[in-house]
Amino acid sequence: MTSASFDFAPLLPAGLPPPAARWTGLAKYSFVGGNIDPEQVPVDGLIDAVNAVLKREGKSLATYGLANGPQGYRPLREFLSAKLQRDAGIACAADDILLVSGSLQALDLVNQTLLARGDTVIVEQETYQGALNRLTRLGVQAVGIPLDRDGMRMDALASALADLKRRGIRPKYIYTIPTVQNPTATILPEARRAELLRLSSAYGVPVFEDDCYADLVWDGNRPPAIHAMAENGGVIHIGSFSKSIAPALRVGFIVAPWEMLSRMLALKTDAGSGALEQMVLAEYCAPHFATHVPKLTRGLRAKLNVLMEALNEHFGTSAEFEDSKGGIFLWVKLPDNVDTPKLYQAALAAGVSINPGPDWSTDNTSSMARLRLCFANPSAEQIRDGIAALADVCRREFGVPVRSANVEKRAKG
Ligand SMILES: Cc1ncc(COP(=O)(O)O)c(C=O)c1O
Repeated sequence: MTSASFDFAPLLPAGLPPPAARWTGLAKYSFVGGNIDPEQVPVDGLIDAVNAVLKREGKSLATYGLANGPQGYRPLREFLSAKLQRDAGIACAADDILLVSGSLQALDLVNQTLLARGDTVIVEQETYQGALNRLTRLGVQAVGIPLDRDGMRMDALASALADLKRRGIRPKYIYTIPTVQNPTATILPEARRAELLRLSSAYGVPVFEDDCYADLVWDGNRPPAIHAMAENGGVIHIGSFSKSIAPALRVGFIVAPWEMLSRMLALKTDAGSGALEQMVLAEYCAPHFATHVPKLTRGLRAKLNVLMEALNEHFGTSAEFEDSKGGIFLWVKLPDNVDTPKLYQAALAAGVSINPGPDWSTDNTSSMARLRLCFANPSAEQIRDGIAALADVCRREFGVPVRSANVEKRAKG
C-alpha cells in the first residue's frame, strides 16, 4: 500500500473506540484466545458436506437468506432445535432460533436491545473479556459476582441484587457462562441454576445464558440449560459452533422469546449471516455432530493433561489450578508478587502469549496474579516448550518459580 495523505481524522465522530493494531501473527507459543485444536476440525466431513449441499441447493444462494427468511438456514435451525432438546433440555422450535455471525453478534444484539449508557448489569467476577469490553464501551456498569468451584455464588448474587434494589437500581440482566465457564471452567450445578432463576424472577432481572462451551464437558454430562429450567421465559440463551466445529465459520445462535427475538431481528441489519457456513454446518452436523464431539473432548482432555504436567514440572507449587471438567482454558494462579500484565509483555518478547488475569475480571486486584491459558490450539510439544519458556521469563522477571522441578531433580541427581 502507498501511504495515504488524505486526513480522515477531522471527520471521525466522537466516541469511536481506539484504532485497532495491525495483526502481527500468532506468537510461537500461543496460549491466547478461544482457538480450537486444528487437528480436530472435521475437514473431510466439511468437504463432503459442502459438495453435497452446494450440488443440491447451491442455486438458492441467488437469494438473500437463501429464501429461508431472516432467521437463517432452516435445516440448521431444525438441527439446533433437536440438539438443544437432547443435550440441554431446551424445548424450542426452529422459529424460536436466530442464527447470527458468531455468538459475538449475539452479545451485540442482546446488548443493543436491552442496554443504554449508565445501565447496570450483573456478571460473574471472572468472565469473558469480549463481554466486559462491550459493556465498558457502552458505558454500562458491570457488577461482578464472585465464583467458587461450582461457579457463580448464589449468596453473593442475592446480596448484590438486594443492595442494588436498595439503591433503586434494577440491573438489565445477569450474564452467566454456566456450563464450562470462561475463564474458570466451572460448571454451575442444577440446584444453583434453580436458585439463580428464583432470584431472577424475584428481582425481575432476566438471565443471559452464554453456553458456547457446553459441548466440551469431558464426561458428556451437563446440567440442563438455565433456559430449559425457566418457567417464565426470562432467559435469553446463546450458543455457537465456534468451539465444537470451527470458530472461523462464524456461526452462532440465539434462543429467546419472540418479544426479544423480534427486537433483535430489527437490529440485525446485515441482510443475514453467511449462508454457505450455515448450509455446510447443517449438512455436516445432522449426521456427524454426536460422534464428532466425544472425539473432540478426548483430544482436549489429553492436551489439558499435557498442560497440567508441564505446569507442575516447570512451575512446581508456584502455579495453582483446578483440574477442569471441560473446555479449552486453564485459569492459573501464580504467587502474589507476579503481575500478569507485566508477565504478558515480557513473555511476548520471548515468543509466548498468555492472557493476563485482569482482562478477564471485574476485580483488578484479585486477578493480578492470574492468567488464562488456552491449551486447545498449540500442539503437545508447543505446550511443553511454551510453558518451559514462560517459567524462564517468570523466574527472570519475578523470581518465581524459584527453581523448576526438573532442575531440582538434576541438582539432586
Ligand atoms: C464466553 C464466550 N462467549 C462468546 C464467545 C464468542 O464466540 P463466537 O463469536 O466465536 O461464537 C466466546 C469466544 O471465545 C466466549 O468465550
